[in-house]
Amino acid sequence: MTDITSEFTAAYGRAPEGVWSAPGRVNLIGEHTDYNKGFVLPFAINFRTQAAVARRDDREIHLRSTFAEGEVVASLDSLSPDTMDGWSAYVLGVAWAAADAGVAIDAAFGLDILVDSRVPVGAGLSSSAALECAAGAAFNELWDWNLGDVALARLGRVAENTAVGAPTGLLDQAASMLGQEDHVVVLDCLTEEARAVPLHLREEGLGILVMNSNVDHEHATGGYGDRFRSCAEGARILDVESLREITADDLPRAQELLDEEAFRRVRHVVTENERVLATVAALEKDGPRSIGQLLDASQASMRDDFEITVPEIDTACDTAVAAGAIGARMTGGGFGGSAIALVPLEQADQIADAVRARLSEAGMREPTIFAVVPSEGARRDR
Ligand code: GLA
Repeated sequence: MTDITSEFTAAYGRAPEGVWSAPGRVNLIGEHTDYNKGFVLPFAINFRTQAAVARRDDREIHLRSTFAEGEVVASLDSLSPDTMDGWSAYVLGVAWAAADAGVAIDAAFGLDILVDSRVPVGAGLSSSAALECAAGAAFNELWDWNLGDVALARLGRVAENTAVGAPTGLLDQAASMLGQEDHVVVLDCLTEEARAVPLHLREEGLGILVMNSNVDHEHATGGYGDRFRSCAEGARILDVESLREITADDLPRAQELLDEEAFRRVRHVVTENERVLATVAALEKDGPRSIGQLLDASQASMRDDFEITVPEIDTACDTAVAAGAIGARMTGGGFGGSAIALVPLEQADQIADAVRARLSEAGMREPTIFAVVPSEGARRDR
């Protein structure tokens, strides 16, 4: 494992003042509900991004990483989304978002930053949010912002939306900031109130497998934005501020007013919000073995109503459940990326083998399958 302190020292000729880190995330349930002001239920995973940082005596940010060549230099006086690109936009975007929101960085000094990431990129596990939140946690302390976790998550979201150009919600950054060991975080995206709910996976002998389809997804273009616009259009026709206001009782009226496809998009969001709340209730009452059907129903809704899964993901989920998983569903924005399976630990290998074998038989791309553990959110490491 890279020792980030010695890498920083080699790059900048002095030791960092501190190291901050933030994790990627898995969403247990509640997909495409965040930008509709609904509910989500993610957890932070045991794969983190670290940022080693030290102050400079000018107003420049110098940015290096262990995964890309060269140094990016930006002045605090001319941060602009138009001049940011690539991975550095996630870091600089957070500083820009803070300045844009009126958080004072005028009196601040610049920073030397070195980033190292263990969050798989392109797997739908929010490597970008991990980067935003690690940077945000470092800025918050070094620049004395004194912002709470949700406020920092919001800045990460703005960075993602603006610098990167994807109309995403608060899910990823909230999970990365607020995660706790062996807990999921239930976030109400309308009030932005969050609460940690115990999962009790270990006591129950359960684990969570990520099944990365290795099918590329890209949210700045393509289907994600289309779904975002369908939901906004659905809300407009139904004359509500957001789809959060629509409940199952309103669905018959929605079916009269919307075309067939728009209705299915809305139905996914409405039923998915209900499934998130039902999952929280089931976890609190009967524990994680009781949520399998909710996970499966979410997968079916994403496949049939919201149409954001790919055949590789559908096959992986069906096979995992047939091989003994308690439940399985796609996680994240969709159109590729990963699915998760909730599995009895003693069957994990056998379930993973069954999924690999089935996808191979079907002539599909080989998935990457590994276990994740619900872990702590952003923090200072040293
Ligand atoms: C991506 C986005 C999130 C959320 C999910 C879908 O991960 O970044 O904001 O919309 O897709 O639930």
